[in-house]
Amino acid sequence: MAELIAVQGDITTMRVDAIVNAANTSLLGGGGVDGAIHRAAGPELLAECRKLGGCETGNGKATPGFHLPAKWVFHVVGPVWQGGGHDEDDLLSNCYQRCLELAKAHHVRSIAFPAISTGIYQFPPKRAARIAIDTVREHVDASDVEVVRFVCFDRETLEIYEHILEEPPRVPIG
Ligand code: APR
Repeated sequence: MAELIAVQGDITTMRVDAIVNAANTSLLGGGGVDGAIHRAAGPELLAECRKLGGCETGNGKATPGFHLPAKWVFHVVGPVWQGGGHDEDDLLSNCYQRCLELAKAHHVRSIAFPAISTGIYQFPPKRAARIAIDTVREHVDASDVEVVRFVCFDRETLEIYEHILEEPPRVPIG
């Protein structure tokens, strides 16, 4: 089983094989963590993203990290929170699962996730953290990932993740 840890910090500084970007469907940058990653990676990242032709919600695409410490950036598009009745939970879970598929394809052993969709997209942070941790726990062993860092930008988010990570993993019923 991979090691899952929560840390507080700026994902652009993380020295891991891959960092995950909470992007939008254009993949052409934005605010929040998307803006921070593009600023830190340099203009080559946008030039590379222009070749990708966008990405639908719940899916993700990989690029090099360019000037980032991380070798790869996995750009995923999380759901905008619309009250919970528009498959938001499944679409968010798909983002984490897709990142682990990309991790396997790129032989990644360490990966850092931001709290996808919980900023501008307004997904409730506790609900999102539960989905993130449950999805990673369920799918990480199918990849070669040994270390998963949930990078929280603020103390409140860190405490949410730490609380859930302290609980024993849920055993799927049936
Ligand atoms: N490092 C780690 N986490 C960060 C950083 C950073 N440098 N900057 C912001 N965050 C955190 C936010 O505090 C939030 O917890 O990332 C989480 C996701 O917030 P957003 O970046 O707003 O992403 P999201 O809610 O998924 O909205 C995506 O925002 O930036 C645009 O282009 C992006 O349209 C897309 C939308």
